[in-house]
Amino acid sequence: MSRPSTLASWYALQQEAKQTDNRHLRDMSNDKQRFTQLSRSFNGLLLDFSKQRIEPLTLQLLLQLAEECQLTSKINDLLGGQPINNSELRPALHTALRLPAKAKLFVEGEDVNLAVQASLTKMQQLVAKLQAGQWRGVTGLPITDVVNLGVGGSDLGPLMVCHALAGFKPEQTAPLNLHFVSTIDGSQLAERLKKLNPATTLFIFSSKSFSTIDTLTNANTARHWLIDKLGKETLVIKQHFIGVSASTKKMTEWGIAKEHQLIFWDWVGGRYSLWSAIGLPIALQIGMDGFRELLAGAHALDVHFANNPLANNLPVLLALTGIWNINFLNIRAQAILPYDGRLKYFPDYLTQLEMESNGKSTTREGEAVEYATCPVLWGELGPNAQHAFYQLLHQGTEAVNCDFIAPIHRYDEIKDSETRRQFQDQHRLSLANCFAQSRLLMLGDAAVPKSAAGEAMPHMLYRGNQPSTTLLMNELTPYNLGQLIALYEHKVFVQAAIWNINPFDQWGVELGKKIALATEQALLAKDKQAIALAFDPSTSGLLNHCLTVQKKL
Ligand code: F6P
Repeated sequence: MSRPSTLASWYALQQEAKQTDNRHLRDMSNDKQRFTQLSRSFNGLLLDFSKQRIEPLTLQLLLQLAEECQLTSKINDLLGGQPINNSELRPALHTALRLPAKAKLFVEGEDVNLAVQASLTKMQQLVAKLQAGQWRGVTGLPITDVVNLGVGGSDLGPLMVCHALAGFKPEQTAPLNLHFVSTIDGSQLAERLKKLNPATTLFIFSSKSFSTIDTLTNANTARHWLIDKLGKETLVIKQHFIGVSASTKKMTEWGIAKEHQLIFWDWVGGRYSLWSAIGLPIALQIGMDGFRELLAGAHALDVHFANNPLANNLPVLLALTGIWNINFLNIRAQAILPYDGRLKYFPDYLTQLEMESNGKSTTREGEAVEYATCPVLWGELGPNAQHAFYQLLHQGTEAVNCDFIAPIHRYDEIKDSETRRQFQDQHRLSLANCFAQSRLLMLGDAAVPKSAAGEAMPHMLYRGNQPSTTLLMNELTPYNLGQLIALYEHKVFVQAAIWNINPFDQWGVELGKKIALATEQALLAKDKQAIALAFDPSTSGLLNHCLTVQKKL
């Protein structure tokens, strides 16, 4: 299958979309069965797509499309370890990272779960030592601060989860402060180092390739800072660095002690790696038991994805509603709107997961696609976004598909009853805003009774008809967050399967890395004539302007 656009269901969906263009969500929403027909739940996770511009017939056609694209067999290939990353000739086995300890998964005759469990055991030992305050720096003081140096998948996933689960600190462990540094310009590191004591600081050099310039530069600066402050290079690197990578060779060459190296494998994509040793900051934050809960939640969703019929399969349905919007209703923007401050970094995390995976324009066979693929995706905490960009959602010219995400319970753990009640009132208010906004986006002015609305001027009109999906979980726990993340990972996979693209490579970012190095050389050489010869007029103009200003300062 190379072009889904030649399939019978694709044509039928195009015809269906013409009908949908003439229908407003306001009218579709009157059907009393709508919520029952267009929502599904699994293990405390509710997926409500009844505010999508979808009728039961649309759903039937979308499921037909999935079948014609042989989705079930593609899911089996993913989970079974087939080399589905065809441009890099390897499987994409992030799901193996969350298998139960006793499970087996043979890939080319080898049980990959043995290596996974061994890595988890080593991680557990390092975590236990740090949490017990037994890890000492070169001066003999216990480590109090851990700085994760990483970028992309080696930063966004752990950062997002650590922030979301900050309240799940295990009791009776030494207080460890976690920090994240990613930017190549050094601004985050410079600020962070000002506040840290080198004697009690440990760095995690977190990079699958162990050669990403952003992380390498930050790690080299951290190394020099430690040496300036503490001296004794070999011991300093040994006691103040952990390495996490798929390359033991590169970790050793850089100076990471063998016993402080954690590995994962080339069959784990960077943006799918938080379940591996890349998740070390998460384990430090919520304890190894909490980390295993996160893995267990993701595994539960994997089992659901593998075994449930497509029509009741949450990631499949989330993906198909996206396909409907993007490819048939021409809605090419997607907003991610969590109504819980703990999910602050979830939209950032998803931008990499979705756009680096599916921002592709060639099929697996190398042909140009003739249909849209990944939408432009962005997001922000919903309540804050209401005061920033919801104006565009309500009255702008752009159609946007929105995902609303919220937990139902919050703040039960607060002991003081008055304070607890206050916070729970706040959460109720947040939920009310979440439901009010999706309703308003769907209905427009019709959400308000006629008498109250009065005669609205044109600039006061809300057109409605903006589609949205609501995802509710009972509460935000490591297990439930694991489910939520896996849900989106599989959504991305399903959309890639329909579009016949490879979601597991990222060739589009490689060239940028190479030419950045050549550009840095030009800035170093300071040869204006050579710059004019080697670069286009626009870029050589910028480079030469920089050199002139630098000389003057
Ligand atoms: O931006 C490209 C990329 O390769 C991402 O896919 C990856 O998550 C990030 O860089 C970091 O890579 P590494 O973990 O190898 O440093």
